[in-house]
Amino acid sequence: MAASATSKLLVSDFASSVTHIPLTYVRPILDRPNLSEVETSGDSIPLIDLRDLHGPNRAEIIHQLANACSTYGFFQIKNHGVPETTIDKMLNVAREFFHQPESERMKHYSTDSTKKTRVSTSFNVSEDKILNWRDYLRIHCFPIEDFINEWPSKPVSFKDITAEYATRVRALVLNLLEAISESLGLEKDHISNRLGTHAQHMAFNYYPPCPEPELTYGLPGHKDPTVVTVLLQDQVSGLQVFKDDKWVAVYPIPNTFIVNIGDQMQVISNEKYKSVLHRAVVNTEKERLSIPTFYFPSTDAVIGPAQELINEQDSPAVYKSFPFVEYWDKFWDRSLATASCLDAFKASTT
Ligand code: OGA
Ligand code: NI
Repeated sequence: MAASATSKLLVSDFASSVTHIPLTYVRPILDRPNLSEVETSGDSIPLIDLRDLHGPNRAEIIHQLANACSTYGFFQIKNHGVPETTIDKMLNVAREFFHQPESERMKHYSTDSTKKTRVSTSFNVSEDKILNWRDYLRIHCFPIEDFINEWPSKPVSFKDITAEYATRVRALVLNLLEAISESLGLEKDHISNRLGTHAQHMAFNYYPPCPEPELTYGLPGHKDPTVVTVLLQDQVSGLQVFKDDKWVAVYPIPNTFIVNIGDQMQVISNEKYKSVLHRAVVNTEKERLSIPTFYFPSTDAVIGPAQELINEQDSPAVYKSFPFVEYWDKFWDRSLATASCLDAFKASTT
């Protein structure tokens, strides 16, 4: 069975027909999830209520954001302004996409990471030495009109629902960028102004049930290449965040998003806020869907620490300024690794 099973490119198309995972998915013993050692006690990362972000309590919410960004780099948000119906429709149509026949999904298949709309598997399948138990669809979604024509046309409602969702989430991200700028003591439009014409991508991660979840990952530990990531997930847990030398499980709460600091924010904030290691594990019982929105500078933007946060005495620039495209090329030139791509952009210490 295993030989024919691995001739399928997407995990979805063989997962339910194997009782052992193919060897190409098996991690070496020292690189396994060790699920019994994961912290599962519950309240893992802060939950911030954004209801009054534009009201008299703004200063208090900014304070909570500052705390969450500097101590966790990860937080959840509720009352974020994205309607529940928009979220439900997005999750449902994404699930429908992955439940389509293989031939429909494979129409978009590509291993070329420069393609702006593609279905693929693992992380960077041409670089990954060991594969990950994940299939995904990746799209670019800002400006929407530049990309919507290449998005999947099936399910028929996919384009409309995704366009509405992406527009709503972008509005939320712009609010978050203002609030995070303020939380760093910067002008509220500081971060937004540093991102050139901005870029927004989405991934639709589909993790089929896995007969041997202890041996593999949905996604191994990594840091996001973004400014910020806004993650929507279904009700199946799987996300884990590395905190105080331990992996901590983050349980889904309906109608909340998970926000995390990405590498570009680590640079702009001069390491006041750090990009945090996280991973996704799989389980034997249930498929899992997660939909991260990745917010980026445009490729022409030049990223570097905010001048206001540099101080020769006690806070010298940790990074030099670099064209975002240089980072981007480095990120996709490799497999997903726990090491950050940022080392190459450190300020010289001479
Ligand atoms: C990612 C990611 C986590 C998840 O796509 O970068 O970290 O829970 N996903 O799927
Ligand atoms: Ni991630």
